[in-house]
Amino acid sequence: MMKHRKEMTLSKIKIAPSVLASDFSRLGEEISAVAEAGADWIHLDIMDGHFTPNITFGPPVVAKLRQHCSLPMDVHLMITDPGDYVEDFIKAGADIITFHIEACIHPHRLIRRIQDLGCQAGIVLNPGTSPDEIEFLADIVDLVLLMTVNPGFGGQKFIPEMLRKIQMVRAMLGEERDLEVDGGIDASNAPLVIEAGANVLVAGSSVYGSDSYLEAIQSLRAPS
Ligand code: DX5
Ligand code: ZN
Repeated sequence: MMKHRKEMTLSKIKIAPSVLASDFSRLGEEISAVAEAGADWIHLDIMDGHFTPNITFGPPVVAKLRQHCSLPMDVHLMITDPGDYVEDFIKAGADIITFHIEACIHPHRLIRRIQDLGCQAGIVLNPGTSPDEIEFLADIVDLVLLMTVNPGFGGQKFIPEMLRKIQMVRAMLGEERDLEVDGGIDASNAPLVIEAGANVLVAGSSVYGSDSYLEAIQSLRAPS
């Protein structure tokens, strides 16, 4: 039974490099490079200095990157009041928008609004947030993103207790929808998160910190 589930999941593993660990002075080239190396999505981390203790970039930069990116752009909003900004990010070219349940008062309404605007909508849970929080959202989301580090910085260490949460959320979502994990993902823990039920792996440092983006992406997708 477990083997059957694992095979189904492995057949649709997606790798989403996070540009947070790339060379920001050459963002467009860095996106093209991972696309050529086999990336499935491009993960864009939006931080506001309020929800996270760090600031990255906003809709104008996303709109420029759209011109360099033929892959789905996966926009991870780590910002307070995400509902105030979703239209801007969708206009900028986002294909997928995820926002934190901890930052939103009416997540059900916001998921429906994002979807009505023609974009995929996902909910994000911080490491300390229980999956119970999304019991009544799980049926309507397009995907769930589980943080496997606390949001704010690249290069942090994977929190192994999140493996049990991945299993719990996979059981809530069924087999067809995407379950994304973000933070500290590398070739050593990729088999563990995949086995637990994740099928979209965000990877910043382990891809952009590697000499070969191709080998890094391959080793995440099909760990030896
Ligand atoms: C953390 C971000 C992640 C981060 C992942 O707040 O949401 O997407 O860039 O970076 P690594 O893979 O280096 O942990
Ligand atoms: Zn992220």
